[in-house]
Amino acid sequence: MQGKFIVVEGLEGAGKSSVIDLIVARLKKAKINCITTREPGGTPMAEAIRECVKQPWQEQVAEETELMLMYAARKQLMVNQILPALASGQWVVGDRHDLSSQAYQGGGRQICVKTMQMLSDITLNGFKPCLTLYLDVQPEVGLERAKGRGALDRIELSGLAFFERTRQRYLELAAADKRIITIDAMQPIEQVHANVVATVENFLTC
Ligand code: TMP
Repeated sequence: MQGKFIVVEGLEGAGKSSVIDLIVARLKKAKINCITTREPGGTPMAEAIRECVKQPWQEQVAEETELMLMYAARKQLMVNQILPALASGQWVVGDRHDLSSQAYQGGGRQICVKTMQMLSDITLNGFKPCLTLYLDVQPEVGLERAKGRGALDRIELSGLAFFERTRQRYLELAAADKRIITIDAMQPIEQVHANVVATVENFLTC
């Protein structure tokens, strides 16, 4: 039987890592075999692309360059990890997926919908996660948390207005798709985790 793909999304500092740990633990409890992925990254070539997009460059990085690198990394991850795992019956828990490109490059960088759709079609051919948990956090709150973890990377240095547009696009896309569940990640962590567990339980029983 084909496995299922669950994705966790959100701005920097939204708390994705602990939520992913929680989901993996819940799947293990249900005796579901799963792997985790992260984007951009997750294969040797995609990890090299991750370094490339995050590091600062002494040249202008065109928005379309950033976009195409994100999709190049995603295609590598799809063909080498996600699709084979799902075909073998394993579940996949992803730290980011296509919704990140829609929000960061489509919303934040304001790349037009037509270009976004073309790259998404080439890379995914209509493939979509079964469930996405979007952890919603105000950019100021998330970036403050991210700063606490160390120096900010090239994307994290894009400025508050960029992250506000990114969050806005996340919220719009989540509101339009039943498979995307928005969780308020500014609540106390116990409450966030309780909402995550309830969402996963509901998905497992449906
Ligand atoms: P993170 O996984 O540590 O959050 O780092 C990934 C960074 O890349 C983060 O700033 C979000 C950004 N990103 C995009 O801009 N577009 C994408 O499609 C993906 C997957 C990530």
